[in-house]
Formats: sequence, C-alpha cells, structure tokens
Amino acid sequence: MTLIFEVNLDERLQIDNFLQTHPLSYTNHGSDVIAGLRQVQKSLPPHYFYDDLGSDLFEKICTLPEYYPTRTEAAILKDNSPEIATITGACDLIELGSGSSTKTRFLLDAYQQLNYPIHYIPIDVSTGILETTAQELLKDYARLTIHGLVSTYQLALEDLPPAQFASRLVAFLGSTLGNFSPQECDHFFEQVTAALNQGDYFLLGIDLQKDNQILEAAYNDNQGITAQFNLNILEHLNWRFDGNFNLSEFQHRSFYNQEKSQIEMHLVSQKEQVVSLKTLNLKINFAKGETLLTEISRKFNLKQMEEYLANQGLKTVQSWTDSQGWFGLILCQYQA
Ligand code: AVI
Repeated sequence: MTLIFEVNLDERLQIDNFLQTHPLSYTNHGSDVIAGLRQVQKSLPPHYFYDDLGSDLFEKICTLPEYYPTRTEAAILKDNSPEIATITGACDLIELGSGSSTKTRFLLDAYQQLNYPIHYIPIDVSTGILETTAQELLKDYARLTIHGLVSTYQLALEDLPPAQFASRLVAFLGSTLGNFSPQECDHFFEQVTAALNQGDYFLLGIDLQKDNQILEAAYNDNQGITAQFNLNILEHLNWRFDGNFNLSEFQHRSFYNQEKSQIEMHLVSQKEQVVSLKTLNLKINFAKGETLLTEISRKFNLKQMEEYLANQGLKTVQSWTDSQGWFGLILCQYQA
C-alpha cells in the first residue's frame, strides 16, 4: 500500500536542481566576502547567515514573541487568501524563497476550497527543505502538482517552467525584499518583470515603518537568538573559508536607522584584532569598536511601495494590512 502511495506522490512531483545544471553561475569563490570586507564600512552579504545552523536559528526567530513579521503576515494571508484565489483564478503558483512553505498553505487551502487544481513551483537554494516540504504538501493536497526548483531567484526567473494555467502568481513573502539595497531592489524587479507575462500576478509581503521600539525589540530579542544568528555568520565564514574569527571577540548590535528607514545589524569588534580567512588569502584588521554590517532590513511605506511597483509595470489590484498597520501584503498584476 505504502509503495503505491509513494509512486502516486512521485508522479505529481518534479524537482530540478539548477545549482547543479548551472554550476558556474552559482559557484561562489568568496569574491563577495572579499569585496564587502574591503569597504570602509565593512559588510557581508546576508546570504552567509543561512548555513544549516543559521537556517535553524532563523526558523526560531520567526516564532519569537518580539519578532512580529512572520505571524502578522501569516494572519493577513489566512484572512485574505480566499480573495486572492478568487482574483487570480486557477494559476501556477510560483514562490521565491519558499522554505518550509508554511504561510503558502493558506493560499493552497484557498485554491483547494475553490476546487481548483494547483500547480506549485517552490524555489529555494536548499534541496533538503524543498524535497521534505514537497512530500508533505503532496500528502495534504490531493489536487496539487509540484515542480520545485533548487535555485537562486535569478536562475529561476531566467528559466521558469512553462505555465500550466492561463496565468501565474509569483509570491515573494516574508519581507525578504527589505534585505535588498535600493539598487538590488531595482535589479530584482527587472528580473521579475522580465519573467512575467502580461496579466501575471505578483504577491509581495513587506514589513512597514512603525515605532522604533517595536522594530528594535524585534531584532534584539530577550533570549538572544538574533544575536546568535548574527554571530553565526562568522562561524559560517570560519568553516567555509578556513577562518579564525573568535566569536567571543564580537558583539551583536542592531538598531533602527531612521533616516534610511532600515534596521541595521552589525557585529562590533571588542578589541583591535586581525582575522584571517585562509582560503581567500585575506587578512582583515579590526579597530576596537569597529563594526561589520551584516544585514539591512528596510521598512516600507505601503503607498510608496505601490507607486514604486506601478513604475515597474506592476499595478496594485488589492493590498491588505493587519489592524495595527505593521505588515503589508500587495497583490499586483503585470501590465507592461
Ligand atoms: C529574512 N529577513 C526578512 C529577516 C528580516 O527580518 O530582515 C532576517 C532577519 N534578521 C534578523 N532577524 C530576522
């Protein structure tokens, strides 16, 4: 019996690994680390947070009482997925950075409720999480087919599978957009709109500007999980590039930069020190008190974002926030 069930699941599941089929474009020799550490304000690309431990710590952050974005966005999705499904009709659901697809289930529930077949294209750089999640979803949704892509956003957007339905909905949730600089944001939307056809939908989750204290608490939790997450980036560099960062010589600091409307996470050097990353042939000098910028998390204004999207050809169909106006969800449609 189990065997027949497994065969059935496999027929509804395809996973392509773009990181293996396009290895050159993904191979990372650490040039981004070298470039970041050579700047006057030293910085690191935030994707180095997400080794196995970093990904686990991020999952923990999402459940912290101070970290409101995940649960707030989930509640908005829960309440409004039926409307989203009604607007888009049956479509290919593409998710950039799908992870464990927890919030996506609200959308899947809504399509299922309307008795639509669902074709889901989750995109994530982690094969493990993509496979495990896909198997779980197939068991829970009878009319679901999945074509997962182990891929960066860029590779996936360049080569999306042919659409099964008349339109597509590309979802980008969790305010991951906030981790992009304005220039990276522009570049990202160039890639997104190049991948969309006229009439396709784009669903964007963004964290909104609010009281400094609420924002700063979300990135300085009482249990110190965010501090561990931040420091773990150094551990990741140590194993990846044979480095000798001593984690006890750096301290987590995050604060809201009002002028730039962004949370900044830094690691502060506790003393003057030299750190090396052997395989990058790099020695880095830190002055006492000098900081390494590990992440920005921009906080947006809903109306300004809608205008920005409109300038990219993405016209807002409907947007929603929670009752406190802390998080926004925008459904827009591509009209080139
Ligand atoms: C993934 N990203 C949207 C999170 C954020 O809030 O910017 C990453 C994070 N950093 C610290 N806590 C959460």
